[in-house]
Amino acid sequence: MKRIALITSGGDAPGMNACVRSITKYCLNKGIVPVGYFDGYQGMMENRFQELGFTDVDNIIHRGGTVLGTARCEEFRTVDGRKRAIINLKENKIEALICIGGDGTFLGANILSKEMNIPVIGIPGTIDNDISGTDHTIGYDTALNTVIDAVDKIRDTAGSHHRVFFVEVMGRNAGFIALNSAIASGAESVLIPEEHTDILAVANDLKEQNKGRRSSIVIVAEGDDGGGAREIMNKVSPHMKEYTLRYSILGHIQRGGSPSAFDRMLATRMGAFSVEQLLEGKSNCMIGARGDDLVILPIDAAVKIQAVPDLSKLKMLHNLRTMG
Ligand code: F6P
Repeated sequence: MKRIALITSGGDAPGMNACVRSITKYCLNKGIVPVGYFDGYQGMMENRFQELGFTDVDNIIHRGGTVLGTARCEEFRTVDGRKRAIINLKENKIEALICIGGDGTFLGANILSKEMNIPVIGIPGTIDNDISGTDHTIGYDTALNTVIDAVDKIRDTAGSHHRVFFVEVMGRNAGFIALNSAIASGAESVLIPEEHTDILAVANDLKEQNKGRRSSIVIVAEGDDGGGAREIMNKVSPHMKEYTLRYSILGHIQRGGSPSAFDRMLATRMGAFSVEQLLEGKSNCMIGARGDDLVILPIDAAVKIQAVPDLSKLKMLHNLRTMG
């Protein structure tokens, strides 16, 4: 194998650069030319790429975002869009492809692989952690730490003012960030898409837990069926007239920042492993992390199965409430 293309695609995630670095260096050490396409599938369709050398990936392991750029590319969902990309990849003598991104990225990779008959490996990179087949996605640990840092700060002001705060976190349709940041930040309540939200029950529970306390924190997943933090606060408000309520939407700060040690290691290991797997003849696969091990799985499984957080953690949180 002489030339491997790589992209970062979908929402950027801290650790993507560490992964690009690892793939590039591993390829170069094996005598393979790594070809980075800019802005994900968009750059592939527009033939924007660079052959990567060692110096291109110097000093990026600690940087958030992605040096290759990324995009959410609607046109790549069309047959015509993919045809343009395939022509470019063939002209560029690309023999295999590594795609770092979330489930949308994997879906594109899977179709492209079949249409072009080229080996493809997906590396899970998204802050949402919503890819089945892996315990962790690149960027999730850093995002969790960012959320916890923000919630710690909100708790300071919430306590000073005797307020109940609804803090909205990302995660699209999945509650991984919400549930696990709620545990790690000691939140009084958490609302996730995987569980129906009953507004009256939320209000009653908060009132019960707030007895004798200065503040409460409710983590709200952006995909919750009761709405975002602002909407939930407004719905709860008539039932909590004697409390001062505020909301905060953490937004895109969750996607930025220097990757944690965990994400750097995960990304570096997954990057090197993906090249190794291609050289062993694997195709249409994704890399997963199970415990301390890296595994290789059919990409189809990740695309078709919805990842769900461990809901027994909700039960645990219920038993950790402070009752008045
Ligand atoms: O998938 C990552 C993510 O940050 C989600 O948590 C969020 O819903 C979405 O991307 C936001 O996407 P955009 O930056 O395109 O608005």
